Amino acid sequence: MKPVRIGLLGIGTVGGGTFEVLKRNREEITRRAGRHIEVAWVAARDLDRARAIVGPDIPVVADAVAAVSDPDVDVIVEVIGGTTVAKDAILRAIAHGKHIVTANKALLAIDGNEILSAANTHGVMIAFEAAVSGCIPIVKALREGLAANRIEWIAGIINGTSNYILSEMRTKKLPFAAALEAAQRLGYAEADPTFDIEGIDAAHKLTLLSAIGFGIPVQFDRAYIEGISKLTDRDITYAEELGYRIKLLGITRRAPTGIELRVHPTLIPAGRIIASVDGAMNAILVKSDAAGVTMYYGAGAGAEPTASAVIADIIEVTRLMQAEPEERVPFLAFQSDALSDVRILPMADVETSYYLRVRVKDVVGVLADIARTLADAGISVASMLQQGAGDADNETDIVILTHRTRERNFDAAIAKLVQMPTVRPEYARIRREDLG
Ligand code: NDP
Ligand code: HSE
Repeated sequence: MKPVRIGLLGIGTVGGGTFEVLKRNREEITRRAGRHIEVAWVAARDLDRARAIVGPDIPVVADAVAAVSDPDVDVIVEVIGGTTVAKDAILRAIAHGKHIVTANKALLAIDGNEILSAANTHGVMIAFEAAVSGCIPIVKALREGLAANRIEWIAGIINGTSNYILSEMRTKKLPFAAALEAAQRLGYAEADPTFDIEGIDAAHKLTLLSAIGFGIPVQFDRAYIEGISKLTDRDITYAEELGYRIKLLGITRRAPTGIELRVHPTLIPAGRIIASVDGAMNAILVKSDAAGVTMYYGAGAGAEPTASAVIADIIEVTRLMQAEPEERVPFLAFQSDALSDVRILPMADVETSYYLRVRVKDVVGVLADIARTLADAGISVASMLQQGAGDADNETDIVILTHRTRERNFDAAIAKLVQMPTVRPEYARIRREDLG
């Protein structure tokens, strides 16, 4: 059978890994796909660098957008990243009837509805396993393995860079900046690492997971996003003393009045398996009605782990090329005319429990005053601890763990607390999830 020809857009971390694994596992991949998979050409900016990677036999082209109309390629693999050239190239490729494999979560989270609709119109496939959590087949699990279930929630460590930073800070006491630098060196970080540390990359991925999990359109603009850049060593240590780990979690949940879609640092009980997921590893928990809780774990970033997902998609696309569009698995797991318009909840309406650290004057009655303010707001305190004796300024940290309450309620209570003469205005608030 004629080989499948691919145009590879980008030969950086993921593109380079994909090229290498395609070459190394060529025979094994052919046995699985049923046809040889050949790289027809590669697009890059730095042509010499690209040539040094792919060798003399594979053409290297500079104009990725122009190249995708090549009648000699069947599949475009987009691993450039970003939402400009990548978008133009993908839309043009779709218009020319090419199937798409992409690792670009930013593009799909922002322009996914437009791109998926174009793919539907032109009857081509768009496969994006590599866009969520590197090698972990979570898209496949949600779209196919759990297809019988009503998904209740999905919660995961879905950004390798931030998990790596938090792990290095906790275990090696490395400063934030040094840990970030190491993550960049190891090829985990996005071109703009703000995406990693401010939770944006995790929110891109979570947006895709929520769409697939609940059968809703892609709605990145409704996600609540808070990153790890403001976390302090002090809170990491206090959390540990209280039996918790802090992880950057993406959480999407079907609540009675809508869907939660949120990324933020989260206290997780240290005994949960997911709390021990360290380094650039990712882990995702899915709670569904029939299967219960299932967990998916693996390398969330890096050249070959991500290549593993890219190539799995290339193989799948190869196998299904001759199938009619309606015989294929829908892009967002649900038929495109069966998507639901259930609303995404604003963060103020989300219910969770909290860790709160405030700095107070170490005077008699301060704990009771804080407890009363919280009680007046209907917030039930699970535990309240004074961390250490008062310092030279006679100030001390108070750490409070609350039971579940609505975020709006909690914010109003904090606003009152920090107006008390015995409480300093700076505080740390971290959400806490049991994930039971
Ligand atoms: P890199 O920056 O390492 O590689 C990007 C590649 O795209 C480079 O080869 C670059 O070429 C090429 N490129 C950029 N702009 C153009 C352009 N205008 N025309 C042609 N080629 C261009 O990125 P990654 O490989 O890390 O990431 C690629 C995608 O994969 C992103 O969407 C990212 O979010 C996603 N991803 C990354 C993971 C990772 O672990 N790194 C994991 C999962 C997904 P040149 O080198 O010549 O400038
Ligand atoms: N920058 C991303 C991360 C790459 O660190 O998770 C994988 O999507």
